[in-house]
Amino acid sequence: MEIMSIIKKMRLLLIISVLAGFVHSCQIKDTESIADFDSENMDGWTTTGDINLKPFKTELLPSDIAGFEGTGVLNTGHNQVEKMGIITSSEFTINKKYINFLITGNNRCNAEKNCHARIVINGKVVKYAPPTRFPPVEWGTMDVSEFIGQTASFEIFDNSKKHFIIIDQIYQSNKLALGNNQISILANKKFILFPVTKGGRQYRFRLEKDGDVTEQFVVEMGEGEPDYWAFKDISNYKGKKVNLISYCPTLIPGFDKIIQSNTIPGKELFYKEKERPQFHFTSKTDWLNDPNGLVYSEGQWHLMYQHNPYGVIGSLKHWGHAVSSDLVHWVERTSSVVPDDLGSNHSGGAVVDFNNSAGLQTGKDKTLVAYWTSARHFTTPSIHFRQCISFSTDGGQTWNKYANNPIIDFIEGRNRDPNVIWHEDAKKWIMSLFLDNNMYAIFNSDNLIDWTLTDRIKMPANECPDMFQLNMDEDPEKRKWIFWGGNGNYVVGNFDGEKFDIEGEAHRTHFGQHYAAMTYNNAPNNRIVQVGWLNKWPFPETNFRMQLSISNEITLKTSPEGFPTLYAYPVKEMESLRTNSWSENNISVGKQSFIPDFEAELIDLNAIVKVKKGGILKMKIRGEEIIYNRKENSISCKKNKVNLLTKGEIQELRILVDRASIEIFCNGGEKALFLPIAMNRENRKLEFSTSGSTAEIKQLDIYELKSSWEK
Ligand code: FRU
Repeated sequence: MEIMSIIKKMRLLLIISVLAGFVHSCQIKDTESIADFDSENMDGWTTTGDINLKPFKTELLPSDIAGFEGTGVLNTGHNQVEKMGIITSSEFTINKKYINFLITGNNRCNAEKNCHARIVINGKVVKYAPPTRFPPVEWGTMDVSEFIGQTASFEIFDNSKKHFIIIDQIYQSNKLALGNNQISILANKKFILFPVTKGGRQYRFRLEKDGDVTEQFVVEMGEGEPDYWAFKDISNYKGKKVNLISYCPTLIPGFDKIIQSNTIPGKELFYKEKERPQFHFTSKTDWLNDPNGLVYSEGQWHLMYQHNPYGVIGSLKHWGHAVSSDLVHWVERTSSVVPDDLGSNHSGGAVVDFNNSAGLQTGKDKTLVAYWTSARHFTTPSIHFRQCISFSTDGGQTWNKYANNPIIDFIEGRNRDPNVIWHEDAKKWIMSLFLDNNMYAIFNSDNLIDWTLTDRIKMPANECPDMFQLNMDEDPEKRKWIFWGGNGNYVVGNFDGEKFDIEGEAHRTHFGQHYAAMTYNNAPNNRIVQVGWLNKWPFPETNFRMQLSISNEITLKTSPEGFPTLYAYPVKEMESLRTNSWSENNISVGKQSFIPDFEAELIDLNAIVKVKKGGILKMKIRGEEIIYNRKENSISCKKNKVNLLTKGEIQELRILVDRASIEIFCNGGEKALFLPIAMNRENRKLEFSTSGSTAEIKQLDIYELKSSWEK
């Protein structure tokens, strides 16, 4: 009953908002128009390439590019032959805060390089705005407040024959342009619910309170019944009026279904889905990628992660947040960092400010400081990558954005993913930052806010750096530093708090789908505990996407080949999930395969195997074949192969099987293979066989694991 009346009210609001849309179109006339492309007259405009300097008829655009106003638009290629070039407006004086325009295009990924609208002052590009999505058409904006009074021109840059961009209604205003879908909400329930249509168009929204943009997000929406409901916790707005506004000039399908609610439809099924990994972290719903802000504080492991809480695609990133007291059982909280008009909250790390270096501590709780990158064109106005901070003064319960963000301005390329640690010898805070291509930068700081660049290092990796120090072969007198890159390549060396001296080549321990891994800051007993993102998801139908690896203990040992090597091995805490077990020693596997009398869905299998020269041992685990090949000294599974460091007939393997993955740790973790796999639910069989020669399983211990979601 209540829901029906809310829906009726919402419809009314929608009609009002449509009317508001018309009012808005009229308002354009009150603001200062730069171009609307409704007349054939393009006096003052110039072009460098082969793009037609003639407005394109709006009526000729296909129906999926709806929302442009008037009779003409500027079109750099859609439905035309391959065109490229730069179109420049005549000069005008900037006298308002924003330049707004309608925009669409087909260039999402390389938009900075290839295709965008931009503002040029004295021959220099000062702002640019690529189309965010294709389609829908959206209101784009560039914040030009810092250039008021200067002479500028508006350019449309299309540097690629494969791409196009369409622009219309360019005007100056002191307000962001409004889309035609808006509602006002008096926040008095726990959530706003959004109907999500998987594969639907991605509509961008902003939430405004007292005229300020407090949040931005993108929801996948479409006609008909939603696939599921995304939920936004609005308890922090309780009793306040907030406006939800889209950037889209056409009516959004499903917009009238957005409601406030105290419950989440379908929540009884969270964690009970048949595809849900049982001991790997996944978010309740929606997209997840890199682990972020991993930090231990006051008995809690804080696991944050890249999250789009409104759909199953990457899109605009928030920081999801979960906590655990044992690295095994997790409780998901609401997002710790949410995008506003500073942009998408890309990856980074977090620290405990143990000596109140930043001066942000208010009570007795040490401040937690989180570093993230405000990223690109996903928000309005669009921006370059810049480094920002959020902090918590209540032990990670609530998070605030630092008032003077960004703390590090754009440097170059795709600079992003700031990760911070404390350097005890130098008594400095250290930040590692990805710059571009294979380059990273190292900074140091006394106060966690002002940073000095001290070194640039090159290594075969990009994105998501991490730095940590480890005892070499458990010897506290022999400590080494590791510089880690997003793809899992790392270098070992010495680091004095300024310069990193790399010793030897880059190596890797992690194989398969393991990306953007990060270690926890401030972990007890100098532990280095790492989590990676398993960057392929094997069940396309689920309402949650992607999983993180289990937590692994990282150590540094001299490898059998004599070089310093990282070892990755499941943290001891994982053993708390073990239930039923089965063991046998000295099993010989010959012509007849060996089938243990043990079946389970979730498995922790430990084996010491002995395979003679030329022999091959096949371990078929719930239908998936893992092969040890003595000649190659390799382990392979599903076309992934790793060469082992330990030579000889004895090899030790630990294999963890969850619903959506197999992870294999070889010889205590000298090599680790991470494989997202849609495990066959019915098949519980284990089978060992050989080819080439006989083999022996010297020791076999198999455990069934409990679910970590069970209370
Ligand atoms: C790595 C990455 C990071 C970036 C984040 C965005 O997977 O591309 O470089 O910060 O994902 O979600």
